[in-house]
Amino acid sequence: MMCLASNCAINQQMKTTTPLRPLPTTASVASLCLLLVGICNADVTPTLPPPTQKEGVTFDRDIQPLLARSCTKCHGEEKQKAKLRLDTRQDALRGAADEKVILPGNSAESLLVKAISKATKEKDEWMPPAGKAQELSPAEIGLVRAWIDQGAK
Ligand code: HEC
Repeated sequence: MMCLASNCAINQQMKTTTPLRPLPTTASVASLCLLLVGICNADVTPTLPPPTQKEGVTFDRDIQPLLARSCTKCHGEEKQKAKLRLDTRQDALRGAADEKVILPGNSAESLLVKAISKATKEKDEWMPPAGKAQELSPAEIGLVRAWIDQGAK
């Protein structure tokens, strides 16, 4: 009984004497976070959208339609910018003039993935070039990553 009564008294006291937490704490935590994010982002590669969970992704069913929509007018039958064709799986895997752009099993290091994610240092490698064709959405980039990670079948 005594204990309860004294708890009660303390509670009463806290209610009357503890002032409301002022807002500025939240604001300064937020600005500190922004600052840290800024510092951390300054020198790291931008993050790529994550690979889609979908199983059994294939070029013909899942990837070809995306490349036909956004890429093959410059990397197809008529034009082969950077000597790269993306209209068939074989051509895509063969790569560009001097390098592979798809590394089966390793989407994160594949130049094609970095290009469509705007994650290369050189902005002229960002694909498609600004305003020239429809960009791939993060979900579509995720599908391309899943395809490559699953072996680019
Ligand atoms: C309007 C024309 C155009 C479109 C559309 C286009 N590209 Fe390109 N692409 C280029 C040009 C031009 C280059 C060469 C850029 C450079 O080397 O600076 C290039 C280079 C690349 C490279 C780098 C090759 C290398 O070895 O440097 C990749 C990978 C690539 N494109 C993929 C794509 C993909 C994937 C798409 C579709 C999402 C796409 N491109 C759409 C014009 C285009």
